[in-house]
Amino acid sequence: MLITGANRGIGFEFVKQYTDKGYRVIATCRNPNTAAELNAFAESHPGVTVERLDLVDLEGIDALAEKYAGQPIDVLVNNAALMRGPDKGQTFGTMDYEWFDQWFHTNARGPLKVTEAFWPNLVAADNGIVASLTTGQGRHGIPVLGFAYYKASKAAIDNLFLDVARKGKSDGVRVITVSPGRVATSGEAPSPRMVPIKDSIGGMIRVFDEFTLEQNGRAYRYNGTESIP
Ligand SMILES: NC(=O)c1ccc[n+]([C@@H]2O[C@H](COP(=O)([O-])OP(=O)(O)OC[C@H]3O[C@@H](n4cnc5c(N)ncnc54)[C@H](OP(=O)(O)O)[C@@H]3O)[C@@H](O)[C@H]2O)c1
Repeated sequence: MLITGANRGIGFEFVKQYTDKGYRVIATCRNPNTAAELNAFAESHPGVTVERLDLVDLEGIDALAEKYAGQPIDVLVNNAALMRGPDKGQTFGTMDYEWFDQWFHTNARGPLKVTEAFWPNLVAADNGIVASLTTGQGRHGIPVLGFAYYKASKAAIDNLFLDVARKGKSDGVRVITVSPGRVATSGEAPSPRMVPIKDSIGGMIRVFDEFTLEQNGRAYRYNGTESIP
């Protein structure tokens, strides 16, 4: 399996849980040199390979796909993203328009490009799946100012992957968008409304395992409930 943003947060937990399940993991991140925890984990788990992948670097994505050409990849998790707010630069009235490109190149174009580049690997796998992390908020809108680029770029993912799902139906690749619930990954104090990280990732993996080709394009939450646009 291949995952983006594997060095911390939800991505690193996916690496650990898929490793526990016996998968070989291509754990990508944009700065392998500073990914101390991930590197230490890979050193003690021979099935984990750390690779550099920056979502804004289209040529770098192609180069990594070229390196793995011909190898089936059964699970691709588009996890990496910019995720923050409220920010002045994402607030209507004080928008930072250079950020627009940064957010959309990272959160929308990046996962699309990664999926296109590794599509032959997914097709080569038996019943492969590509899962893209989104947020219920991308659909319904966080009801305060300051998250404009975050929620709009996630809404773009939701939409872009509807077409990927159509292609997946003919190519035999399962395509899902999934919300992890609210998970404390930025050092915030846990609250009862948050989902423990192990439960969120364990739940998403169960959802992927049960997801069928006929469901392509549908969106789910980590707990298996369908997320209606
Ligand atoms: N946590 C939640 O409550 C929550 C809720 C809904 C949806 N999600 C979604 O779940 C996913 C993971 O969230 P998280 O909480 O684990 O986020 P996080 O802790 O902020 O981690 C984000 C990851 O994305 C990577 N990243 C950012 N820009 C990148 C780029 N240009 N190229 C490659 N990697 C890049 C980061 O790498 P660096 O370390 O190099 O910055 C980091 O590994 C995201 O898609 C997020 O939108 C999370």
